[in-house]
Amino acid sequence: MEPLTEDTVNPDAVAIRIENLTKTFRKGKSYFAAIKDLNIVVNEGEFLCIVGPSGCGKTTLLRIIAGLERQTGGKVIIRRRRVNRPLTSMVFQTDSIFPWMTVEKNVGYGLDMQGVPKAVRDEKVHHLLKMTGLLAFRYCYPHQLSGGMKQRVNVARAFAADPEILLMDEPFGLLDEQNRLILQKELMQIWEGTGKTTIFITHSVDEALVLGDRLLVMTAQPGQVKKIIEVDLERPRDIISLRSNPHFIELYKEVWHLLSEEVQRSRQMDLKPL
Ligand SMILES: Nc1ncnc2c1ncn2[C@@H]1O[C@H](COP(=O)(O)OP(=O)(O)O)[C@@H](O)[C@H]1O
Ligand SMILES: [Mg+2]
Repeated sequence: MEPLTEDTVNPDAVAIRIENLTKTFRKGKSYFAAIKDLNIVVNEGEFLCIVGPSGCGKTTLLRIIAGLERQTGGKVIIRRRRVNRPLTSMVFQTDSIFPWMTVEKNVGYGLDMQGVPKAVRDEKVHHLLKMTGLLAFRYCYPHQLSGGMKQRVNVARAFAADPEILLMDEPFGLLDEQNRLILQKELMQIWEGTGKTTIFITHSVDEALVLGDRLLVMTAQPGQVKKIIEVDLERPRDIISLRSNPHFIELYKEVWHLLSEEVQRSRQMDLKPL
């Protein structure tokens, strides 16, 4: 276990501080801990990826950070730099865009809610539609789009809202490989232009290493920090050339080994009661 402590990071550069976070749920008559004493600090502008066996509490962690779920114990402290912007925006695995709105209206939705002047809104929306290859589809409705296009709308919408923290829960998990690689690239281009603090859950070790500055490997239930890995690979990263990069291969093996230990553990046990 290697939780970060105060003295391992520059306190000025902290975007999120999570201390001894615990979440218990009820199952039948008993309770179990989905997350237990989880500690991590996310730096300003950092792209943090999270991997861990299914059911280890990744989504629960994100939902707590987003304020959609209340923790049972511990603290989540998010630094707010600007009062007129949302604290977090979430991108889910399945599209959560409004079916009755055009692509353009969906992307601008958050800005409309914030009362951003039309000219500023239109410019921002235009920029994001361009970055995500959606310009030609801006007057389409979601039912006219492929899965990849819908996820692009989701990503563009989350960036348009300009939150302090961007939260992404396996956003490309249901896409085919070609689409996934293209969306990863687009996401990186947008992210590099904004430097937004981002937490990204994925089940793909490749994806975590292509995107992340650091990678949090979680333990099987109850979810804790197993290890935090620095992904010290130069940017911009390209998955095809990374696959033959010795350091990438080394990191991949390390993460895969840690992850498979936990996947093994999670398969051998039923939920551990409190
Ligand atoms: N609202 C809930 N009520 C009861 N149990 C829940 C609830 N949400 C999640 N869980 C349980 O908590 C554990 C962690 O879930 P989740 O955070 O979705 O895991 P992951 O995203 O890592 O797959 C699972 O055992 C899941 O069944
Ligand atoms: Mg999940």
